Amino acid sequence: MTEIEATRARRGATATPSGPLKGEVRVPGDKSISHRSLMLSTLAVGRSTIEGLLMAEDVMATADAMRALGAVVTVTPSAVTVDGVGLGALKEPDRPLDFGNAGTGSRLTMGIVGGHPIAATFVGDASLSRRPMGRVLNPLREMGVEVIAREGDRLPLTIKGPRTLAPIRYRLPVASAQVKSAILFAGLNAPGETTVVEPVATRDHTERMLAAFGARIASRPGQDGTEITVSGREPLRPCAITVPADPSSAAFAIVAGLIVPGSELVVKNVLLNPSRTGLITTLREMGADLEVLDERPAGGETIGDLRVRASGLHGVTVPASRAPSMIDEYPVLAVAAAFADGETRMEGLEELRVKESDRLAAVAAGLAANGVTHRTGEDWLVVEGRRTAIGGGRVTTHLDHRIAMSFLVLGLAADKAVTVDDAATIATSFPNFMALMTGIGATITAEAA
Ligand code: S3P
Repeated sequence: MTEIEATRARRGATATPSGPLKGEVRVPGDKSISHRSLMLSTLAVGRSTIEGLLMAEDVMATADAMRALGAVVTVTPSAVTVDGVGLGALKEPDRPLDFGNAGTGSRLTMGIVGGHPIAATFVGDASLSRRPMGRVLNPLREMGVEVIAREGDRLPLTIKGPRTLAPIRYRLPVASAQVKSAILFAGLNAPGETTVVEPVATRDHTERMLAAFGARIASRPGQDGTEITVSGREPLRPCAITVPADPSSAAFAIVAGLIVPGSELVVKNVLLNPSRTGLITTLREMGADLEVLDERPAGGETIGDLRVRASGLHGVTVPASRAPSMIDEYPVLAVAAAFADGETRMEGLEELRVKESDRLAAVAAGLAANGVTHRTGEDWLVVEGRRTAIGGGRVTTHLDHRIAMSFLVLGLAADKAVTVDDAATIATSFPNFMALMTGIGATITAEAA
C-alpha cells in the first residue's frame, strides 16, 4: 500500500430522493489545468502564482512530485506559488513519486522526467497500478528514455531520461490528451522539434498553457490531423494563472439540477473550452434547459455561468466523434439518460475501459443494481429511460470518484435511496462534493467512519 492509499479510509455514502435543488454553485478548479499549472511552473525559472488551484488529492500528489523534482511549492488557502527550477535543471527525486489515483499527474510527469537525465520511480494506488502506461512509455522509449516496468507497463515503474533526448514525430494511436501532453513535455528538453500528430482532437490545455509560458509551440492542420510542434530547449517564463471551474465536476451539479424536479441552479465560472463541452451539447440535444450566461474570456480560456432548470429529457444518440470532448462525463450522462424518455445510445466508448475503473462495466453494474434497463457492448452503452421505479441499489465504485458521484446523483432523483460503497475516493477530484450538494438541498449522508 502506498502512503496516499494508506490515508484514505473506505467510507460509504447514501443519497436519498431530494426536494428541489436551488442556488448558486461554485465547483473547484479544473483538474487538467491544475496539474499542468504546477508542472509548467516547475519547468519555468522564477515564481509563478496559481489562483483557484484544485485542492484535491490528485493535484496535491502532483504538487509533491514537483517538490521532489526541486520546485518550491507553497500552498495556502488563499494562494499557491511555485518557484520553478527551470527546464534542464530538475533534481533527481530521493523518494518514489506517489501519484495516488492520478492518471494525468503520473503520465504527464513521466514526460517531464523522461526529458531529463534523471531517474524516478512512480507508484500509485490499486486503481492507478492497473492502468496501462505503455501508451506514454512507448513514445518516450522512441525518444531514448529507459523504462523498467512490470508486465504490461504498469506501475510501479522506474524511468530514466537520456543525456540528450531524440526529438520525434509521433502519431497518436489513441485519442489521449495525456499521451499528447507527455510527449510535448519531454520534447521541451529535446534539441530540435518534437511533433505530435493528433488525428482526433483532444483537450488542448497543454498547447494553450505552453504558449502562455513562452514556449515555441504551433498547431497546424496536416494530412493526418492536427500537427502540434514544440521547439525544445527554449526557456519557459513564469506565469500568473487563474484556474477556471472544472466542467467535469460541474457535470454532477448540472445533471442533478436537470433530473431533480423543480430545481434551478447557476453553476459559476465554468471552463467552456470547446474540447470539454460535449456534455453540454448532448444534454441540450436531450432537451435540457441549460443556458450559458455571461460567456467571457479568462486567462487564455473561455468561461461562463451555466443556468440549469429541471427538464424533461429525451433519449439521443451520442456519436463516437464527440467522445473526447466528454470522455469523463459518460457515467453522469448515463444517469441523466436513466431519467429521459426513450433510449440514449453512446458510442465510441473504448477509452472508458481504461479509466480509474473499467467505467463501462462499473456504470453498467451500477445501472443494473438500481433497476435501470440498459444494454452494453465492448465500446457502447444504451440506456433506456425510466420505465419502472429505480434506485435502491448499492454501487461498487472500484476506487473511481466519478462512479461514486454519478450514482449519488442518481439517488437524488430516484424512487429509492442509492448507496455507494466508497465515497472517500471523491476526494481525488472534488473534496467538497457532499457539502456543496447538501448546501443546495441534496440529502446525502456519509456512513459513520
Ligand atoms: C486528461 C485527459 C483525459 C481525461 C483525464 C484528464 C488530461 O484522459 O480522461 O481525466 O488532463 O489530459 P486521456 O488523455 O487518457 O483520454
